[in-house]
Amino acid sequence: MFVGAQAFRRLEWSPVELASRTARDLSGIINLASGSPDPSVIPVKELAELFEEMVREYGAKGFLYPGAGGVPELVKELRSYVSSDLGIDIGEGDVLVVVSGAQHGIKLLSQLLLEPGDIAVTEDPTFWEAVDPMRFQGARLVGIPIDEYGMDTSKLEDLLRRGLKPRLIYVIPTCHNPCGYVMSLDRRKHLLEIAEEYDLLILEDDPYRPISPNPPPSLKSMDRRGRVIYVCSMSKVLAPGLRIGFVVLSRDAAEELSKLEQHDFSTATPIQLLVARALRKGLVRSLIPRLRMHYKEKMDVLLGSLEEHMPGSYTKAECGFFTIVRLGVDAERHLPKAIASGVIYVPAKDFYIEKKLPDAARISMSTQPKEKIAEGVKRLSSSLKS
Ligand SMILES: Cc1ncc(COP(=O)(O)O)c(C=O)c1O
Repeated sequence: MFVGAQAFRRLEWSPVELASRTARDLSGIINLASGSPDPSVIPVKELAELFEEMVREYGAKGFLYPGAGGVPELVKELRSYVSSDLGIDIGEGDVLVVVSGAQHGIKLLSQLLLEPGDIAVTEDPTFWEAVDPMRFQGARLVGIPIDEYGMDTSKLEDLLRRGLKPRLIYVIPTCHNPCGYVMSLDRRKHLLEIAEEYDLLILEDDPYRPISPNPPPSLKSMDRRGRVIYVCSMSKVLAPGLRIGFVVLSRDAAEELSKLEQHDFSTATPIQLLVARALRKGLVRSLIPRLRMHYKEKMDVLLGSLEEHMPGSYTKAECGFFTIVRLGVDAERHLPKAIASGVIYVPAKDFYIEKKLPDAARISMSTQPKEKIAEGVKRLSSSLKS
């Protein structure tokens, strides 16, 4: 116990953080746990040059407080990126708010929208880091099963018919984390219809769209009624350490989100100006086709290796970085054995909402070169046989 222990609220470490820490201390391990983008495709040299240019242009002004909502240069560039590169129409009444990564946006929105006892609906399993801030607000989570067509919206409709009253529907419809699924167009339409019928708000978390080869339209661009709050990020397309994300939402809601940003003065000014320049000079646009190809090839290797060594055990991910593999043994208990065989994954039981699946593991291909991905799967499979 530490001084003042009773005064502190207690939180949990994310399973991904725990696995990443373990991986950091192990040399020679094949890391199939990390959710980071591939360091080999981060444009370090170009970013360094753009940073220098930015400093020359702005001088001390580039290092002042950013102000809430985002610096105008970045807001302008992001608006045009969202419509021309991501193919999402930002409605007349919509405002784009810069945040320090999608995760920050989700946390702020959880604070704005959720009070103790409120219900938030998610896919089951889901991205732990997004739902932890919802739980921290005192919200109760309800998980809806997900399959290769995305969230099973008919199950959601059943629950709504029976009286469920969620405050928020949190979805990752494109390149789901951790399953890798993409929600079908029919389910997207259905979700929006349900939202209309039951007067619901949808939080669409879409960080993988820029690196996804052929994504369907976002819920945001199909939404005519202002029911979708759109969250996206520069983490997967540029670099996660920059901490730049953005939220697109109706003007009045954006005002509240920006006011809440006054609580943390977040999103460093020089980084906002750097990313604005990377967008304006076409760096981001030039990366997109390469990244789509790069990650598709790696995903093909991951799924091919799983098919060879552990057929039938994994979710058929379409894009993103992840797949869920059912190990057939307790994933947490098996981890030391896998590590001894030279591979690490994330035990995924806590990603599940309604019923924990102890044998589920999240496997990622993002940081490893192709030959290591294949070798990692082989090591995992042998560790299970030995
Ligand atoms: C579904 C999902 N949402 C949000 C994030 C967080 O992104 P950011 O780095 O922009 O905070 C991630 C990162 O892995 C993610 O997978």
